[in-house]
Amino acid sequence: MSSQIDHLLDEPRRFPPSPEFVAQSIDDPTMYDRAAADREAFWGEQARELLTWSKPFTKVLDWSNAPFAKWFDDGELNVAYNCLDRHVEAGNGDRVAIHWEGEPGDSRSITYAELTDEVKRTANVLAGLGVGHGDRVAIYLPMIPEAVISMLAVTRLGAIHSVVFGGFSADSLRSRIDDAGAKLVITADGGWRKGRVSALKPAVDQALGDRHGEGEQATVEHVLVVKRGGNDVDWTEGRDIWWHDVVPQASAEHEAQAFPAENPLFILYTSGTTGRPKGILHTTGGYLVQSAYTHKYVFDLHPDTDVFWCTADIGWVTGHSYVTYGPLANGATQLMYEGTPDSPHPGRWWELIQKYGVTIFYTAPTAIRSFMKTGRHIPQQFDLSSIRVLGSVGEPINPEAWMWYREVIGAGTAPIVDTWWQTETGAIMVSPLPGVTATKPGSAQVPLPGISVDVADDDGNEVGNGKGGLLVITRPWPAMLRGIWGDPERFKETYWNKFQDRGYYFAGDGARLDEDGDLWLLGRVDDVMNVSGHRLSTTEIESSLVAHEATAEAAVVGANDETTGQAVVAFVIIKQSYLDQHSPEGLVSQLRAWVGEQIGPIARPRDVYIVNELPKTRSGKIMRRLLRDVAEGREVGDTTTLADTMVMSTISDQVK
Ligand code: WTA
Repeated sequence: MSSQIDHLLDEPRRFPPSPEFVAQSIDDPTMYDRAAADREAFWGEQARELLTWSKPFTKVLDWSNAPFAKWFDDGELNVAYNCLDRHVEAGNGDRVAIHWEGEPGDSRSITYAELTDEVKRTANVLAGLGVGHGDRVAIYLPMIPEAVISMLAVTRLGAIHSVVFGGFSADSLRSRIDDAGAKLVITADGGWRKGRVSALKPAVDQALGDRHGEGEQATVEHVLVVKRGGNDVDWTEGRDIWWHDVVPQASAEHEAQAFPAENPLFILYTSGTTGRPKGILHTTGGYLVQSAYTHKYVFDLHPDTDVFWCTADIGWVTGHSYVTYGPLANGATQLMYEGTPDSPHPGRWWELIQKYGVTIFYTAPTAIRSFMKTGRHIPQQFDLSSIRVLGSVGEPINPEAWMWYREVIGAGTAPIVDTWWQTETGAIMVSPLPGVTATKPGSAQVPLPGISVDVADDDGNEVGNGKGGLLVITRPWPAMLRGIWGDPERFKETYWNKFQDRGYYFAGDGARLDEDGDLWLLGRVDDVMNVSGHRLSTTEIESSLVAHEATAEAAVVGANDETTGQAVVAFVIIKQSYLDQHSPEGLVSQLRAWVGEQIGPIARPRDVYIVNELPKTRSGKIMRRLLRDVAEGREVGDTTTLADTMVMSTISDQVK
């Protein structure tokens, strides 16, 4: 690893933006100095420029009760008004907000005026179902316009959404609904994926059913169901309501009420180092300021001519900030696509870029690597000349993929912005500015104007250029998480206690600064894996494995994978009675399927190895580092702290 990093840090290639790009760009190099001179004044300026406040704020930041921040605290605004009505009032009602394309090829273009009407109708329906200020609404939908409409309708009422990725299982949905105490679930019969309808409603029925245990009171009163897949669904009278029976009939008159800037906007669950997902809480004002700011400057947005496409699902934070909130706050036109990149043919994404003239394209390294594998002849069949900015997010992008992206998708000219951020940061934190920065393949480079990050050693000291350590955020930022839903202690412990004396936020990522002071992200330093840009917890998958009756013990590691970045590899000890009665192949496939059902298909292990023992220290801690060596086919590292030093050779033999 470290020789690979040294090699990366020697990266000599630099790609400054072309003079033509600089000439048309809105990016302004003086932003860095202005922000550094007075950070709070800078954010105050952004907040006033980018958003419409119903009541202006008088104070930018209140950090007196750190780490619980308040931004723009006495200001008031309505998020949906900022994303919709004001664009119509400004005369842009006819501008397309969303070009939506379904996987089977059906499509819809929705203007800002139409989207505003739809959200108003939906808000009226939700209000009629008793949803009001502070209530939680779970959204479990495919990538259809109703997903965005639902999010905006919820926040229009001052309520809080919790979007659950449609690929998550009934169990995952259930725990998220319960943790947030959701009153309403918005779902669909099904959505299109890989050429067929994949049902969603059964998972909701299952998540809400069977509540006989203690404390298992269902908080959900209604389920609002969008018809998309056309598949048969079970129906619970009195609880379930078809979207098409109520939304089109509802009034399109709805005046948005203003709420304080610190009113909660959403909860989004993400994997942590323990088995229980954390409900990351974001509030309205600061979050919307930074989503709009980053969407505008990181992508050099020209709202009247650009067509923006972020390929993330709304179930992830990237879909929240760069499908729903950033683009709509900025009045941009965007493309939204329901399906998978290779349905019905491997060039589907490129065909869509050609069809809609996409100018800004934002995706994940794992997607780029899988396109590299199928070959450049596929994108080369399409006209991609509209593209002028490329973005990357979710995991480190290796220089090889970076170069391929620039050359094959960006015609060798489009600047690439490698954007580092997290569910917790709410919006982009580290990234080049395409009209300013000379980019470097593989490096996310520099904090944005107004953001301050550093690389520190374990004691919080700056490591300085040329050295590695832990990524920290040294000053509060507007879109920062405000807490973990229902668990303020876990919030402090997870992010703030490590560098308590300095007040630094601990991001959980390793990083290095090169000689120019540019940042290189090195992956997670905790037990969190990154598979295809999605965060998964080793502990969560281990808990799922041991919950299977055949399993005695399990250890999970993230192993390097050429396509997905990391892959889930599990080592399990099977109970003797099961070993006697089942074939190893049968057990392995059962366990893979089990994890897929319990957590979701993205968590399904790539490999499951049945072993007799796991490597443990004398204090009983599993040494995952050694298992990772095995999973990646390397010679096993230092085993001297193991209780039984022979155990690794047994495991290596069993894996072979
Ligand atoms: C990783 C996704 C390197 C990182 C927005 C972080 C990255 C985690 C990058 C957050 C990047 C995200 N380069 N690593 N450009 N972007 N990561 O919460 O490990 O799903 O901590 O947010 O993804 O994942 P999350």
